[in-house]
Amino acid sequence: MAKRTKPSSKTNTQKTPVELLSKKQAEAEYARLQTEIAGHDKRYYQHDAPSVSDAEYDELRLRYNAIEARFPDLRTLESLSLKVGAAPTGRFKKVRHAVRMLSLDNAFAEQDVVDFVGRIRRFLNLSEDEPIAFSAEPKIDGLSMSLRYVDGELVTAATRGDGEEGEDVTANIKTLGEKEVPHALKGKKIPAVTEVRGEVYMTKADFLKLNERQKAAGDTIFANPRNSAAGSLRQKDVSVTASRPLGFFAYAWGEISEMPKDSQSGMIKWFETCGFNTNPLTKICHSVEELIAFHRQIGEERAKLDYDIDGVVYKVDRLDWQERLGFVSRTPRWAIAHKFPAEQATTTLIGIDIQVGRTGALTPVGKLEPVGVGGVIVSNVTLHNEDYIKGIGGKGEPLREGRDIRIGDTVIIQRAGDVIPQVVDVLLDKRPKKARPYEFPTQCPVCGSDAVREHDEASGRPDSVRRCTGGFICKAQAVEHLKLFTSRRAFDIDGLGEKQIEFFHDKGWVKEPADIFTLERKHRKELLEEEGYGETSVRNLFAAIDSRREIALDRFIYALGIRHIGETTALSLARGYGSWQAFHDAALKVAKGDEEAIAEMDALDQIGDTVIEATADYLKEKRNLAAIERLAKQVKVLDAEKPKTDSKIAGKTVVFTGALEKMTRDEAKATAERLGAKAAGSVSKKTDYLVAGPGAGSKLAEATKHGVTVLTEDEWLALIG
Ligand code: IVH
Repeated sequence: MAKRTKPSSKTNTQKTPVELLSKKQAEAEYARLQTEIAGHDKRYYQHDAPSVSDAEYDELRLRYNAIEARFPDLRTLESLSLKVGAAPTGRFKKVRHAVRMLSLDNAFAEQDVVDFVGRIRRFLNLSEDEPIAFSAEPKIDGLSMSLRYVDGELVTAATRGDGEEGEDVTANIKTLGEKEVPHALKGKKIPAVTEVRGEVYMTKADFLKLNERQKAAGDTIFANPRNSAAGSLRQKDVSVTASRPLGFFAYAWGEISEMPKDSQSGMIKWFETCGFNTNPLTKICHSVEELIAFHRQIGEERAKLDYDIDGVVYKVDRLDWQERLGFVSRTPRWAIAHKFPAEQATTTLIGIDIQVGRTGALTPVGKLEPVGVGGVIVSNVTLHNEDYIKGIGGKGEPLREGRDIRIGDTVIIQRAGDVIPQVVDVLLDKRPKKARPYEFPTQCPVCGSDAVREHDEASGRPDSVRRCTGGFICKAQAVEHLKLFTSRRAFDIDGLGEKQIEFFHDKGWVKEPADIFTLERKHRKELLEEEGYGETSVRNLFAAIDSRREIALDRFIYALGIRHIGETTALSLARGYGSWQAFHDAALKVAKGDEEAIAEMDALDQIGDTVIEATADYLKEKRNLAAIERLAKQVKVLDAEKPKTDSKIAGKTVVFTGALEKMTRDEAKATAERLGAKAAGSVSKKTDYLVAGPGAGSKLAEATKHGVTVLTEDEWLALIG
């Protein structure tokens, strides 16, 4: 759990209204605010790690501006208000992406690439000898950017953000220069709307030069070129961005009103004609062998390249195939990032901290003597669980040939891309004589409740995770759940960040989600008396809370924080049940062991035993049920949006059986779901259609029994048009 940070205590002057400040007090306060705001800016822009909410930040800026307005002669060259492009308050404007910006699935081993190509062949029903062309492109380690051109003119540049909404950095992007990002697209027949996507990066040489300059000026040192590119671009003062050398490679697109080409490689060439740089190493490959050979070749050239890359991206070249392949959750089926092997380093383990998560899991985190690995300074390493420390794997097999990990040990750690660093080995000959085996706590370090390892039915062994049994009485679990509840993908409550949640929890005002919605009624007055909570920030906070009293069903289900229910599963449940009431009733039946309800849940896409069991466990707990009831009284849960209502099969349940000849089973299911139908695994009286190919067996009999409409593959295709 993150350390609790109280809002900073303030001296009297810091609370004095600006109108009442003497000149001397104002001078001190102005200087103090300038330092504080600069610190927040640095954490936000350069480290991507803000320590205050936007509302708190705005309040500081407003106070700063008010002092300056009253005593204009306090203004110096360092004044924040003189920074070009700096809005009086707030940060970058938010931009909603017309087409979501997605990420990529990763491949590490060659087998992952073999599997990737195999999946594509199966999905598209291609025979072994049918060639597939792939565009293989170096994976640039920078930050992705979406550039929107309307009638050929650059109108918006946005960062990826959470994929749905990014930050408007148009002014910053324009400082990169026409050679990197053209302000107007070149060529004839430019579509009315063209969104070009790609990577903003800084060369390794420029990164080193920049760090030297930063060091001389006593300024932040960037850990790697990626951070320096991101930090340089996301500057409110565009003159700072302008002084930083940044480049751009185009490799993808978002909304395009009229597609100019029908292949990935064609699009890349087209980007060049529009005035963009594309990566010169990009190559078309036709087989797994060619992809892997290309990966090896790029891996060898990597160190000599002037920019950082962390792998090679393979994309199916034909766009009609890309379209058929579609997406799984947030990643395309038609592309994968083949990462380069992890980088390693040797250091000392100086301690082990135990963190308690939302589900009560006790996770050991190794504290390291800081060490550089692949350009990043690493000082924490995940130690997974008790068995991992002992040298025992998930199936009871020895890890590191059974060597345990002790405080004081010299360890080899590795980093693979964005993955959290891991310990790969322990050097026994360097083990200090005094080092003793690590004793994993059997009590929760946060609430003191017993921490136990449940029996895992599947493996017949104790579960590898030790969990706190404190439930909601454990502050760590309650707070972690509240953090998930208010997070972007759940209730998305602005101004209710980690720090505020911990603070409200400590005060006893917010112990469970429902309390967030009664906070204003019950604690407004007290809150206003708290240091750091002014009228404006309190008003903003309550407005943010109020704006979330209506919520989509999938977000609501996700926000409950049921184990194993992530966003995708929540979406599937929401689509499957349609309304909160229907889900709630079904889940209660599942918790009571009702077989029909279990079978119905099981039939939903992405749902299996793990989710069903977790849902049952969650609802068996009376405290959870009561908390949900209290919450449901505070909010209105909107029925799930049906993905498509204009198709003939929207809302219908379909089951596929037997051999399909025109498409694979996966493709058929994905198409049905795209058109708003539910693709189920088994036939019940709720099934609308059974699509039966040759060799259909028991499902066909079952369908006849329930009077379900049975279609041939051709009849099905005719139905969906
Ligand atoms: S394609 C839907 N191509 O990698 C696919 N991404 O891990 C969109 N990246 O967010 C991405 N080089 O920032 C693509 N040649 C390339 C890339 C690339 C770097 C980054 C990009 C993306 C991330 C995904």
